[in-house]
Amino acid sequence: MNQLSPSTVPAHVAIIMDGNGRWANARGLPRAMGHRKGVEAVREAVRTATECGVSYLTLFAFSSENWSRPQSEVSDLMGLLKTFIRRDLAVLHRQNVRIRIIGDRTNLASDILPLLLEAEDTTRNNTGTTLVIAFNYGARDEIARAMQTLAADVVAGRLDPRDITPERIGASLDTAGIPDPDLIIRTSGEERLSNFLLWQGAYAELMFIPDFWPDFSRETFLDALSRYSARERRFGGLQATKTLAVGS
Ligand code: IPE
Ligand code: IPE
Ligand code: MG
Repeated sequence: MNQLSPSTVPAHVAIIMDGNGRWANARGLPRAMGHRKGVEAVREAVRTATECGVSYLTLFAFSSENWSRPQSEVSDLMGLLKTFIRRDLAVLHRQNVRIRIIGDRTNLASDILPLLLEAEDTTRNNTGTTLVIAFNYGARDEIARAMQTLAADVVAGRLDPRDITPERIGASLDTAGIPDPDLIIRTSGEERLSNFLLWQGAYAELMFIPDFWPDFSRETFLDALSRYSARERRFGGLQATKTLAVGS
């Protein structure tokens, strides 16, 4: 068992699952094998999040920029997403997991969108961990789509521009109703956000882990949660213990 105290478990962990290709390359395998192995790491990450009481787990599965990869790799990734939902939806449902999809849903293939909607629908009333799948997701695209909605409301006279507050913008994003991530993990040693949760991650703790995604195990996740619990978050304020001294 782990030593994590429930009070220090982040409510929302978001993961940039990177390094599938390099994991495969290092073994002389085709990149597709790395993606396949990555799905097993997804299953384990969801189980660990559920076990530790992480309320929201967001996984970056396919970015709006990943369409620029070779067609064969894009279709491998689409195939894996379809297989994952077909095979794992019942299991996730039994685990009381609620699924939410973020990203642009327009122009998705006709065999993908219904599966995503089915996953959300089936698990809508579940009360366990919310698994947020970022698919065809890019933060700049998400923000631009939100701005289009707000601008249309202004033009139609439904919205006063002075009411475009940070809260209003947050509520117009794909993540509406989901708390901001407390911890963003990226695997594979790359230290960048690659257009992931740029708005929501304003005060997220960032953690860059050298392991390639297929090697991200329960132990790696528990270690990340334990290191997170030692981080001091200030949100622009001062450390709690220091402010106590004032006036005493
Ligand atoms: C992450 O692994 C999976 C996706 C981006 C879909 P990569 O495919 O980016 O693997 P590397 O970074 O090339 O090793
Ligand atoms: C980010 O990884 C996207 C996902 C994990 C889905 P990439 O591998 O696409 O990012 P870059 O190209 O290295 O920045
Ligand atoms: Mg990559």
